[in-house]
Amino acid sequence: MPDIRAAEAALAFWAEAGVDTAYADEPIDRLAEGAERLKAKVQPAPRPLKAAAAGVRAAPDYAAALAEAKARAAEAQDLEALAAAIAAFDGCPLKFEGAKQAVFSRGETDAPLVIIGEGPGGDEDAQGAPFVGRAGQLLDRMIAAAGLTGRVFITNTVFWRPPGNRTPTPAEQAVCQPFLERAIQLVDPKMLLLVGGASAKSVLGREEGILSMRGRWFEWTGEASALTLPALPTLHPAFLLRQPAAKKKAWQDLLMLTERLDRPVRPE
Ligand code: URA
Repeated sequence: MPDIRAAEAALAFWAEAGVDTAYADEPIDRLAEGAERLKAKVQPAPRPLKAAAAGVRAAPDYAAALAEAKARAAEAQDLEALAAAIAAFDGCPLKFEGAKQAVFSRGETDAPLVIIGEGPGGDEDAQGAPFVGRAGQLLDRMIAAAGLTGRVFITNTVFWRPPGNRTPTPAEQAVCQPFLERAIQLVDPKMLLLVGGASAKSVLGREEGILSMRGRWFEWTGEASALTLPALPTLHPAFLLRQPAAKKKAWQDLLMLTERLDRPVRPE
């Protein structure tokens, strides 16, 4: 006889943890997946390359999906067309794992700063815009404190909510990368702010943790456009909500960024 109350308690526990969507018919043994990952760590894997070229284990149709993403992104002549192209794109598996809608961007379309987060969460999925939940509200307060209100374009490395708010996989990020790069190209900012480790690693194609990357300038180079921009990784506001003592570091990063953003360009 199944214990209904135990099942209800387990469901309430998972809902509280953000796991509120069932997206597969069969159960998935995440513990077994963890063991696989551990094995992969023990046997040195080849160093992952930049997102789109990453040596990630690919779904059989991954190459086709990436080619389609590149073609659709290149066709988009403005951000509105790009948003429509993303919404129509079926090549990212996240679209079919419980997401309600595509979440692309908010902010100024000619902003000097593009902020790139990890991926939409529950609030973003419901409202269709990035960084609108608690972490987003903190991000907005940080942007305001740094005098950047009205000067940012905000987006993510993936455009559909990963189930249970898990970190997007490198393959999911890679297949969305052509759209992200096209967005950067269309906004044409002076620099990028990479929010959190999953964003910094994917955008820069690096493996260091965010605590070692934050507060250091990197050079981002586009794959299709050969565009080059300074990029600054910083801590994710969701992390800052859990670790308020780290806000000081994020503030230092923002000061570093505004100093460079507003530095007068010296005439040749
Ligand atoms: N966290 C992110 O990285 N992006 C969002 O849009 C919301 C939360």
